[in-house]
Amino acid sequence: MSQSELYVSLDIGSSSIKVLIGEVDGGSLHVIGVGNVQSAGIRKGTIIDIDATVESIKKAIDQAERMTGMKIHEVILGIPANGVTLQDVKGVVAVNSENREITDDDLDRVMQSAQVMSVPPEREIVNIIPKQFIVDDYGEIKDPRGMIGVRLEMDGTLITTSKTLVHNILRCVERSGLTIREIYLQPLAAGTFALSDDEKNHGTAFIDIGGGSTTIAVFEDDRLIATSVLPVGGDHVTKDLSIILKTPTEKARKIKHQYGHAFYDDASDDELFEVPVIGADSKDQYSQRYISEIIGVRLEELFDLVLEELFKMGIRDLPGGVVLTGGITKIDGLLQLARHVLKSRVRIHTPEYIGVREPMYTTAVGLIRYAHMQDTFFGMPADAPQAAAIAATSVEAPVNNPKQASGKQANKPSFFNRAKRVFDNFFE
Ligand SMILES: Nc1ncnc2c1ncn2[C@@H]1O[C@H](COP(=O)(O)OP(=O)(O)OP(=O)(O)O)[C@@H](O)[C@H]1O
Ligand SMILES: [Mg+2]
Repeated sequence: MSQSELYVSLDIGSSSIKVLIGEVDGGSLHVIGVGNVQSAGIRKGTIIDIDATVESIKKAIDQAERMTGMKIHEVILGIPANGVTLQDVKGVVAVNSENREITDDDLDRVMQSAQVMSVPPEREIVNIIPKQFIVDDYGEIKDPRGMIGVRLEMDGTLITTSKTLVHNILRCVERSGLTIREIYLQPLAAGTFALSDDEKNHGTAFIDIGGGSTTIAVFEDDRLIATSVLPVGGDHVTKDLSIILKTPTEKARKIKHQYGHAFYDDASDDELFEVPVIGADSKDQYSQRYISEIIGVRLEELFDLVLEELFKMGIRDLPGGVVLTGGITKIDGLLQLARHVLKSRVRIHTPEYIGVREPMYTTAVGLIRYAHMQDTFFGMPADAPQAAAIAATSVEAPVNNPKQASGKQANKPSFFNRAKRVFDNFFE
């Protein structure tokens, strides 16, 4: 009988904090709990107020807990791509066992050995992604375990970020009473599942337009090759609307969600809606077409910045096109505008799971699926059984909870419980 596994992901966005509780059963994901609260204390992916951030995290966790009647202890945390660098690394080890069969332990050691290199003191390792394993000069191997050899090598990509940035995020999560089970670079986790295999292979820009930032991630040859973050997002559209329509920010945001359109030619001129004016009792009337001009100008500028950034990143060609996601991509007319400005094949990615069919959930969904993929490959962290991640706390909770870790994988040595190993030292 197959056993399901539970995962909790945490996406600390500059516009909202998302918490998802996902149940993975035989490879398929069911989202059973969702928390989503407006965030405070985060600007453009960077924490500017720890207390406010902690409060918002707690609220989002609480929402997801109430929905399921479960208590959340451990989370899979997304790290934003601000200031991230990718570099090629290589690991080499001698195969340990007497019969020369490559085991989990060899895999673990070769991954560790790839990190034994000079990472500057102000940088922190986020993830290491194997590109290929080489067993006695035979390359292109995806999984060397079970093979026979003397020498095991790994070529991979090492992702590092600013220590300050990651420490502050981790501090907020810990102060919210949570343990971090794993951390993953957000566009890595999101893009891996938002893009098709062909897109990841051919060269595709995966662009997440959030509230305060836009993250560009380029995938080619089945891996992440470059990332960059622009400090512009959907909240700038809200601000423009608020200033030009002279209406409170909260109202401007609602208007954007309800009537927003990004492509002037397709926006409707038929209906008018009322907008309250700051400091006046009166209301002004506007059409969708009118506000589409304000929205379109800002988003056109954003796509121009994306093109410039791709050029700076050395990306000259995107045979796989562009895949957009993130909260603002839900706005009508965005696809037409993006195609018009980017002059490329463009599609919008929205997760297909019940309860999270919104492009703002792409990262939180990707984090769960990435963690599950890693567990399937490397084995469940020995010291982080799933039953500890979450526990039923109320009588209303489903009777089959808490779920147990899949027994076959438990207690394997796992490279991927390194989050704990590394980050335990942070707060000493
Ligand atoms: N239905 C909608 N129509 C238009 N805009 C929307 C809609 N839903 C959400 N947005 C906008 O999307 C943005 C938030 O997107 P998202 O939740 O992906 O950002 P975030 O992850 O919090 O921020 P970031 O990734 O920049 O840290 C906000 O500007 C919000 O107003
Ligand atoms: Mg985001």
